[in-house]
Amino acid sequence: MVANVALITGAGSGLGYQTTLELNKRGWHTVVAIRNLSVRAAEVAELKSQLQSAELFSVLDLDLSNLHSVKKCAADFLALGLPLNALVLNAGVAGQHGETAQGFELAFGVNHLGHFLLTELLIEKLCQTDNARIVTVASRAHRHASSGIDWNDVQRPTRSIFGIQEYAQSKLANIWFSNHLSRRLMGTGVSTYALHPGVIRTGIWRHAPKWTKPLLSIRPMIDVQDGTKTTLHCILDAPQIETGLYYADSSVTKAAPIAYSLEDAAKLWSKSQYFCRAYL
Ligand SMILES: NC(=O)c1ccc[n+]([C@@H]2O[C@H](COP(=O)([O-])OP(=O)(O)OC[C@H]3O[C@@H](n4cnc5c(N)ncnc54)[C@H](OP(=O)(O)O)[C@@H]3O)[C@@H](O)[C@H]2O)c1
Repeated sequence: MVANVALITGAGSGLGYQTTLELNKRGWHTVVAIRNLSVRAAEVAELKSQLQSAELFSVLDLDLSNLHSVKKCAADFLALGLPLNALVLNAGVAGQHGETAQGFELAFGVNHLGHFLLTELLIEKLCQTDNARIVTVASRAHRHASSGIDWNDVQRPTRSIFGIQEYAQSKLANIWFSNHLSRRLMGTGVSTYALHPGVIRTGIWRHAPKWTKPLLSIRPMIDVQDGTKTTLHCILDAPQIETGLYYADSSVTKAAPIAYSLEDAAKLWSKSQYFCRAYL
């Protein structure tokens, strides 16, 4: 029997790592996309050693902060000659300051734009695979972006002190992206899901200023295994009819009102296409 195939971004740690183990345990071929692969042989070997079926495993280099790398990763995936049942857009940065290789704000560039380009370059492959899914790990932090995305902010380095505003905008972008994509893919058999995984004990805020750490750590947190439940639900069980919706606790849930703006979602789409035009 041919195994289902998932491509998982940010699989070197946290939720991506655990999602890889869980899918592999269920007989999926897991293709993991990890940045700076050339210096991470030991981590990849460690991940491989934890898998139930090490033969159902491939690894690709992907730096979402560089659109060249995204394009190369998509080409490398296609060269594997595998189907693509689930594209899991999981990688993310929070509380980190900077800009991408092409000059976009770091959280917007990594969390949204790199994933946007990866999806666009793999869309044909997804459409060729029966009932394929695109699962985007967003966050309830999108609620902090209640006025939407500041289009000037996304084209310059991170400006806010904590990076929370930029993170929130990038996570709102994740929800708009997933929702708009579901409408573009109507009739293709490909469905899309965005989700909040919970507040989970991972290193996602490790780059936030040191003095914010005590504040961040007083939030009640769940462990990584529980943190993958909603992602797995969207990959394995969520009804196709629920395409384009936002999930938490393995059920459809309400996002912030701004997340339902079809006009803003369409604007994000056309801006993203413009930003990525040299790579499409
Ligand atoms: N933890 C939570 O409470 C929480 C809550 C809501 C949403 N989320 C979302 O869950 C997702 C997974 O985060 P996590 O909690 O598992 O944190 P994590 O352990 O820090 O995982 C994030 C992953 O993204 C990768 N990544 C960062 N920048 C990248 C880049 N430029 N190119 C490629 N990969 C890159 C990281 O790789 P490196 O190892 O190379 O840094 C890491 O493997 C994120 O999208 C996050 O926003 C998390």
